[in-house]
Amino acid sequence: MTHPLLSVDNLNAYYGKAHILQDVSFNVNELERVAILGRNGMGKSTLLKSILGLEKIRREGDIQFDGQRTTANETFQTANLGIAYVPQGWQLFPSLSVDEHLEMAYTPSSGEFEWTPDSVYELFPEIEARRKVGGTKLSGGEQQMLAIGRALVRNPRLILMDEPSEGISTFVIERVVEVCQQMAERNISLLLVEQNLDLALRAAQKVYILVNGRMVYETTAEDFKADKESQNHYLGV
Ligand SMILES: Nc1ncnc2c1ncn2[C@@H]1O[C@H](COP(=O)(O)OP(=O)(O)OP(=O)(O)O)[C@@H](O)[C@H]1O
Ligand SMILES: [Mg+2]
Repeated sequence: MTHPLLSVDNLNAYYGKAHILQDVSFNVNELERVAILGRNGMGKSTLLKSILGLEKIRREGDIQFDGQRTTANETFQTANLGIAYVPQGWQLFPSLSVDEHLEMAYTPSSGEFEWTPDSVYELFPEIEARRKVGGTKLSGGEQQMLAIGRALVRNPRLILMDEPSEGISTFVIERVVEVCQQMAERNISLLLVEQNLDLALRAAQKVYILVNGRMVYETTAEDFKADKESQNHYLGV
C-alpha cells in the first residue's frame, strides 16, 4: 500500500490556552512540493513547529511520516526519520562559521546522491567565499543560503521551509525558487510555508491556504495562479 510521505490529520495545536491550529489536515506525497500560503499570524510557523514538536506546542491529532506516527516523538526522533528544517529568520549561530554549520549538520546518505558541504558550496558559491565567517555575520541572502544548505547536508527525505522570501533580495528569491524546483531530482520532498504568492506558486505544485489556523482551500499551483478571484478572496492580493 502506498501512503503519503507526510500526513497530518485533524491537527490541533496550542500555545498554553491559545488554540492556534484547528483541525488541520493535509498531505505531502513522496517527491511532491507543497506550499501552505497564509498571511501574517495565520499559523504557518506554528504548523511547521508542530510537525517537529518544537517549542512546547501542545498537539492533538495525528501526524505520520512514512507511515509512522510521530505525534508523541521528541523533536530529534522525528528529525532523524529524515525531516530537515529551514526556520524563519534562519536561526544561525554567531559562534559557528559557515563551514562549521555545514559540518555539524552533515549526515552521510546511503542513497545514490549525497549532499555534502562541498556540493552545497557548488550550489551556493557565495557562501563558499565566506566559509570562515560567523553565521550571523552573513547578509540576509547568504544566511538563507546557509540555512538551506544546512538542511540539504542532513540528506533528508523532506524539507520544511519557513518563509524563505523574508529578508532576502529578489535575486536570492530566484535562487531559492530554483533550488526548490530541483528538490525532486535529489529525492527530496518539500513543504514550504509562505506569504509570497509568486515564490510559492513557482516553487510548489500543490497549494493549501491557511486562514486563522484552519485550512480553508486546496488546489494546484497551476489553477491558483490563474484564479485571481481566489487569490484576492483568501490572501487579499
Ligand atoms: N510562542 C508563542 N506563544 C504564544 N502565542 C504564539 C507563539 N508563537 C506564535 N503565537 C501566536 O500564534 C499565532 C500564529 O503565529 P505563527 O507565528 O504561527 O504565524 P505565521 O503564519 O507564521 O506568521 P508570520 O507570517 O508573521 O510568520 C499568532 O496569533 C501568534 O501570535
Ligand atoms: Mg511565521
